[in-house]
Amino acid sequence: MRLKEKVALITGAASGIGRETALLFAAEGAAVVAADINDAACGEVAAAIRGAGGSAIGVHADVSRASDCEAMVAAAEREFGKLNVLFNNAGISHADDDDSISTSEAVWDLTFQINVKGVFLGCKYGIPALRRAGGGSIINTASFVAHLGAATPQLAYTASKGAVLSMTRELAAIHAREGIRVNALCPGPLRTELLMKYLNTPEKQQRRLVHIPMGRFGLAKEIAYSALFLASDESSFTTGAEFLADGGITSAYTTPE
Ligand code: NAI
Repeated sequence: MRLKEKVALITGAASGIGRETALLFAAEGAAVVAADINDAACGEVAAAIRGAGGSAIGVHADVSRASDCEAMVAAAEREFGKLNVLFNNAGISHADDDDSISTSEAVWDLTFQINVKGVFLGCKYGIPALRRAGGGSIINTASFVAHLGAATPQLAYTASKGAVLSMTRELAAIHAREGIRVNALCPGPLRTELLMKYLNTPEKQQRRLVHIPMGRFGLAKEIAYSALFLASDESSFTTGAEFLADGGITSAYTTPE
């Protein structure tokens, strides 16, 4: 098992990437703290892990709130004695996020509160715990949109993911000598709730698919396996990386017909 005796905290664990990662990390031997604002779905993830013989708790945490982030880290140490892996994965893509003219300040602020401040607060409270454990791995979910511009704009979201990338680099540099690795995971377009609620017709999906060399959307499970590598000691020389798992979208100028 690749995460034997590790304790992993995952935010946004009730759905999509977070959910699949919680299940996979547990199957690989980790004790999992599943954190989310959706208490019911988060509790179900933790219960499914326990039902399969693993260790997990669900905790309520809004990552934009300092007190919640402090409490989720405290829950990991209280319940499982330590924290080894912090997956700052919770994020939103707001329906009214558009270009600079149309996007409201409220949408901009909310996106940054969750997508950027949420990562900062996870680290603010998580890094002292990783230090107490003698080091560890932080994974921050960014996105392929931090690498490429799109004519179908979501300006706040794209800018927030750029901030996650630059924050990740600096965190990696600051903490490298204390055995804390920090990497950004950049998924391509995925078949999860976050994206499919916008690409809700075959035509809209096809408009996006023509840009992906593999010609399909990714699965949350495929991103979970990338997170597993970054969480495990197999990636022990990898820090400050922008780990793309995107079906080739950022590599392609044109795609096959
Ligand atoms: P999802 O919508 O399926 O899951 C996101 C989870 O985050 C939900 O369970 C939601 O309740 C939770 N959440 C939302 N606000 C929260 C808050 N303030 N505090 C705690 N939890 C909160 O989305 P998905 O696709 O699994 O996204 C996960 C991450 O991956 C996000 O950061 C997203 O931006 C990123 N991503 C997603 C891509 C996609 O195509 N789906 C592509 C690239 C990046």
